Amino acid sequence: MENTVSMVAKHVNKLRAEDKIFAASREASNAALQFGKDKVVNATVGSIMDEDEKLAVFPTVIKTLKNLPDTEFAAYAPILGTPDYLEAAIQAIFMDYRPEGYINAAATPGGSGALRQTIWNYSDIGDTILTSDWFWGPYRTLAEENLRKLSTFSFFDDKKIFNLHSFEMKVSELLDRQDSLVILLNSPAHNPTGYGLSYEEWEQVIGMIKRAAADGSKHITLLCDIAYIDYAGKASETRKFMSLFSGLPSNFLVIVAFSISKSLTMYGLRTGAAACISSNKDVAEEFSGVFEASNRGTWSNGTRCGMKLLTTIMNDKELLHKVDTEREELRKLLEKRAETFMEEAKSVKLDTCPYKAGFFVTIPAIQSEESCKLLKKDNIFAVPISRGVRFAICSVPLYKIKGIAEKMKKAIDGGQ
Ligand SMILES: Cc1ncc(COP(=O)(O)O)c(C=O)c1O
Repeated sequence: MENTVSMVAKHVNKLRAEDKIFAASREASNAALQFGKDKVVNATVGSIMDEDEKLAVFPTVIKTLKNLPDTEFAAYAPILGTPDYLEAAIQAIFMDYRPEGYINAAATPGGSGALRQTIWNYSDIGDTILTSDWFWGPYRTLAEENLRKLSTFSFFDDKKIFNLHSFEMKVSELLDRQDSLVILLNSPAHNPTGYGLSYEEWEQVIGMIKRAAADGSKHITLLCDIAYIDYAGKASETRKFMSLFSGLPSNFLVIVAFSISKSLTMYGLRTGAAACISSNKDVAEEFSGVFEASNRGTWSNGTRCGMKLLTTIMNDKELLHKVDTEREELRKLLEKRAETFMEEAKSVKLDTCPYKAGFFVTIPAIQSEESCKLLKKDNIFAVPISRGVRFAICSVPLYKIKGIAEKMKKAIDGGQ
């Protein structure tokens, strides 16, 4: 909303919309107060709620955190992150699929911090950042806040698989007018669709970027956003594609954005990391340098106890096993909720984006605002996004998911 009196500087986009996710979430909370929680479906929140609609947390993680020494809560961490944390984060990212090359990491406040520092340091002011046409809204905010633009390629082709052709066309179009290109790819368990690129699709993506980088004149940075990776299946399968990041040309840098927000259900602890993989030592060292400087120039240092928490868990096999077991329970719960929704969607002929895993399902809708308004009449709160409705299965108990697809179908048809 534009104010009549404004104090802000010229570069600030005053027309920026209120965060739609938090706005919808507030409406759902108000409805729950008015009509009772059991009458309201709040599918706006991107955090896992248990079957009693309480925020799901891992008891082992909380216990480990609370047992840390006082100084771990109070002290600063080094700007780049504690060295043992950086190693723990690298281990948590790649597991058994550490690519060949120089790998360096930097602590960031969640995956958001990794995204911000990558955009800032690897594209020029005014550049266009590329992502898929279904994307997490804050990608645009992160691009625009840092004086970049965001452009998209079609994520899916008509067979509802990764649209390599559209990706290739868009990369080539942008490289025709820019010296550097930052690409944001969120996989697996993509927000908002639940899609995940197969190993073969990753092979094609990496092969295509290598070809685009072949003459050495352009700088291409692929940010692989793995915020939801630990809910996409077994670590031995979900990380396999990362071995494809080996032996890349020095003008093709991969940065993986990692976060404990979802992996350890520690959303508010603001702990994450960026890890770079380069075949060139200078490029990897430069990454550490620019991330350290940008950390200092933005939020300074990260949350020390968050770093210590991940380090403690990653370095203790028994603890790690306990956390993995607790997470697996939640993953199965998500799977069940998604299965219920997708089966019902099929039976009422509700078109959905291709879901494989993750916190959200998305239903294409031309008039998504209108469809969400209709859903609200049934006390169902979902998030309208530019080409669809995002329904957070992560925050809706199984018994409330039953019957939603039919209501959604009516709202989508009614909204057109
Ligand atoms: C696609 C995606 N990437 C990154 C993030 C970053 O979250 P955080 O900064 O809490 O790690 C989120 C959080 O919702 C997300 O949905």
